[in-house]
Amino acid sequence: MGTVTPLDPHVAISPAILYFGTPVSLLSTVDEDGHPNLAPNSSVWWLGQTAVIGVGARSQTGRNLIATGEVVINLPSAAEVDIVDRLALTTGRSPVSPRKAAAGYRHVADKFAEAGVRPAASETVTPPRIAELPVHLEGRVTALHPLGGAPSVADASILAVEVGITRVHVRESLRLAGHANRIDPRRWRPLLLSFQRFFGLGDEAHPSRLSTIDEEWYRG
Ligand SMILES: Cc1cc2nc3c(=O)[nH]c(=O)nc-3n(C[C@H](O)[C@H](O)[C@H](O)COP(=O)(O)O)c2cc1C
Repeated sequence: MGTVTPLDPHVAISPAILYFGTPVSLLSTVDEDGHPNLAPNSSVWWLGQTAVIGVGARSQTGRNLIATGEVVINLPSAAEVDIVDRLALTTGRSPVSPRKAAAGYRHVADKFAEAGVRPAASETVTPPRIAELPVHLEGRVTALHPLGGAPSVADASILAVEVGITRVHVRESLRLAGHANRIDPRRWRPLLLSFQRFFGLGDEAHPSRLSTIDEEWYRG
């Protein structure tokens, strides 16, 4: 038998958060009066044409998703991180909850002005897109799921929101050459959040056997 390299031992810990690294988005929603809101989010994943977003039910975004059921998931690349950071510690809700105020949150009514970005009209939903960001996913809420054992959406403090994607806009420069409907993952540089800090992607880690499947196969 060859030499066995000793492994670094594991320790059991109890982290307050389990944010091991996920893409950052800015969620665009509107309230029942049509007033737009933006909020940074890092809890989104996709399967097929469905996105699932994790949001605080009592945030302005959570309330808007429940009330009007429409969203634009705007994705920044790592190059647009400053736009996201300008919206950190802000909420569209007034008054700010005591818990959030104690953490340093403040009310901001015009998040577009606060972030220094321009609204662009969406094509299938009411919430506006963010012109400065490279990817926009328009969508409609198809289901709301209370998380953390709450018996109903009304009782929940956090929600998983299922969103059917109705339109995808990407900057032309992100398209894979020769393919109308594909994004080049070597050009798309998502912004990631890991334990409250921002990161970009490193280099491609390894050839991918999965990528031998034609992307169109997933459309079925
Ligand atoms: C980078 C970043 C990622 C965040 N991710 C989430 C998230 O995944 N889910 C969530 O509910 N709040 C998340 N937040 C906190 C919300 O943005 C925050 O609660 C905000 O006040 C919501 O704004 P609103 O009340 O106007 O909707 C994140 C904040 C930042 C800055």
